[in-house]
Amino acid sequence: MQDMIVILDFGSQYTQLIARRIREINVYCEIHPWNKIPELGSHVKGVILSGSPFSTRDPKAPQPDLSKIKGKIPLLGICFGAQYMAQHFGGEVLPSTIREYGRAMLSSVDHQHPLTQGMNANTQVWMSHGDTIKVVPANYRILASTKDVEVAAYHIEGEDSFGVQFHPEVYHSTEGSRLISNFVINIAGCAPNWTPDSFVESTVKQLQEKLGNDKVILGLSGGVDSSVAALLLHKAIAKNLYCIFVDNGLLRKNEFDSVLDSYREMGLQVKGVRAAQQFYAALKGKTDPEEKRKAIGKVFIDVFDAESHLIEDANWLAQGTIYPDVIESVSVDGGPSQTIKSHHNVGGLPDYMKLKIVEPLRLLFKDEVRRVGRSMNMPENILNRHPFPGPGLGIRILGEVTEEKVRTLQEVDAIFIDGLKEHGHYDEVWQAGAILLPVQSVGVMGDERTYENAVALRAVSSTDGMTADWCHLPYDFLANTSSKIINQVKGVNRVTYDISSKPPATIEWE
Ligand code: XMP
Repeated sequence: MQDMIVILDFGSQYTQLIARRIREINVYCEIHPWNKIPELGSHVKGVILSGSPFSTRDPKAPQPDLSKIKGKIPLLGICFGAQYMAQHFGGEVLPSTIREYGRAMLSSVDHQHPLTQGMNANTQVWMSHGDTIKVVPANYRILASTKDVEVAAYHIEGEDSFGVQFHPEVYHSTEGSRLISNFVINIAGCAPNWTPDSFVESTVKQLQEKLGNDKVILGLSGGVDSSVAALLLHKAIAKNLYCIFVDNGLLRKNEFDSVLDSYREMGLQVKGVRAAQQFYAALKGKTDPEEKRKAIGKVFIDVFDAESHLIEDANWLAQGTIYPDVIESVSVDGGPSQTIKSHHNVGGLPDYMKLKIVEPLRLLFKDEVRRVGRSMNMPENILNRHPFPGPGLGIRILGEVTEEKVRTLQEVDAIFIDGLKEHGHYDEVWQAGAILLPVQSVGVMGDERTYENAVALRAVSSTDGMTADWCHLPYDFLANTSSKIINQVKGVNRVTYDISSKPPATIEWE
């Protein structure tokens, strides 16, 4: 079995980053909630305790049972994890007199020690804590300090257990990856062989064992996740994979045909279903964003359901679910999180379809999905495309959606996206698109008064869509794009650029 590290999550905002750093050194790891510790078989080479929004001094703070871990296999506590191991085993954690947030320098580092070897004196680390370890138990040896924090890193002598007060997983800890690699590879002894190629090889084998001669249906969205999932399944079961790509009438200009062509060039067996009119009919008269999303989702299910019944004896449904959707989140206050928008993906199909689910990407982060796609020679135009929401232009036309408005927005969007590509901005931007506003305003063209539509352009930088900033595109580019749109798209006389970050705005307007 693949060597792995288990990360126990105490609700830190950085937990996923710990996993990313470990996977970057080609070692597999999984995140589990602190109160659901999985069976630690011999392939689990080490455990990491994450940070937490809780103070260890809070009576409601997590109290993990480490009896099967500490002293038995390599263990690294980060921030809360380090404080917990200090406090719980006889030390003392107190509120800091100086709260340390952000940059700090490690003023003394034990360069000989396996955990900190190779790290420079005065290396920058990232701190984020209101408590500090004041007293460590007798057998805890201090490996590093900062100006304000004496216990910045420690080793529990006689066992492979360690703690660090800082966050080695964040990029601002300049040599954090070195420390993580020291722990994962040198101390825990993981073999760094989790690569895109090894993932493809093992996943194809597992899919073949799981699916045998069964038939699988997969809904393609044009996005990278469903496309990579399809390619993996195609490698595993070839002709038994049946892909469906639905034209909901809300795709980008010419997208349906061009994406369908790309899929066929990749060798996929894919049926393109033209269902635009069904979607427009369902959207008629609807102006509320949530009602529109639900209507689009429902028609999608109806179309997909009808199509899947045409494939005889299919008993599996493949989905492009990725790891961030799978990680069970640790809720700090115990309450449910609020629904901001009801997302619709090609994946979210109802139980009555009675299909078993197969999710070949459920272990991967988004950037890993791309790396896997690249290792299978997926065309760059699919691999590098910006994310596009399931409800498509339907949520970028504010208010009622009509076929005519879709056509107008497609033209505007195409000018913007083609311009980004032409001027080399496309790959710098995480996601971009145009929004048709329910606003008409006065303009003048030639000597004529106009009273036409306004559009907004949106381009954001992000890593996962959870937070985003607006892109500072060059003024010249924006000016050029604006005049092209107004000159070429009938019915549009005003272009605005959205300069809101997320939060407080969201990326999509509806
Ligand atoms: P928001 O607007 O919530 O968007 O900031 C975050 C990211 O999610 C995408 N998005 C969707 N993706 N189905 C999807 O597959 C949806 O219903 C949906 N709604 C928003 C959005 O494009 C952005 O990348």
